[in-house]
Amino acid sequence: MQLLISAGPTREAIDAVRFLSNRSTGKMGYALARQALVRGHRVILVSGPVALEAPAGVTLVPVESARQMAEAVTSRAAECDLVIMTAAVADYRPKQTISGKLKKQAGDLVLELERTEDILAGLGAVKPAGQCLVGFAAETEALERYALDKLQRKNLDWIVANDVSRSDRGFGAENNSVVMFARDGRRVEIPLASKDDVARRILEEIGA
Ligand code: CTP
Repeated sequence: MQLLISAGPTREAIDAVRFLSNRSTGKMGYALARQALVRGHRVILVSGPVALEAPAGVTLVPVESARQMAEAVTSRAAECDLVIMTAAVADYRPKQTISGKLKKQAGDLVLELERTEDILAGLGAVKPAGQCLVGFAAETEALERYALDKLQRKNLDWIVANDVSRSDRGFGAENNSVVMFARDGRRVEIPLASKDDVARRILEEIGA
């Protein structure tokens, strides 16, 4: 199978030296890429800035901003059998990027933010027949309700939900535990394990 996996955070430039980002480390996406290779798949890994080495054998497409990730993912998704969006794409970007370095002034600074494109929803809207589309949901409360809402709203086949309110799993941690919900109503719980073990279980459940 040809897979496309997105991973890591995005960076949204404020000026030449500053950006908005998030705590994603890319570990879950890289674990999925590694396990997919072990299972004999071809993998395109579209990655935001992370401190990880790309698994040997993937086609790495490094990106920085949500706009670049959208371009990299949407231009390649159509020819893929399975697309897994683990990336923590910024939902907002500064409306204007200041050229050069912003100098401090007396008083407060107000940054105006605009919405970024929802890459996954865009893929769901044009999903080719036979393609399996998988999203991730990072939630701190009402995990099941929000995850199921994303599954429907973005026209996904699976949503993999993590509880990011606990420091022993999820964002930045070595381990993870997830609950997966399928379009057909299946619900699969994967208990706390290394991200590589969780990745292998996710791929097994998806049938990849
Ligand atoms: N995603 C995306 N493009 C965005 C934002 C998110 O493709 N601009 C993808 C992520 O890669 C992930 C899923 O959508 O697979 C997460 O859904 P989202 O609704 O963005 O989750 P949250 O950002 O947690 O949204 P909310 O604030 O509604 O909880």
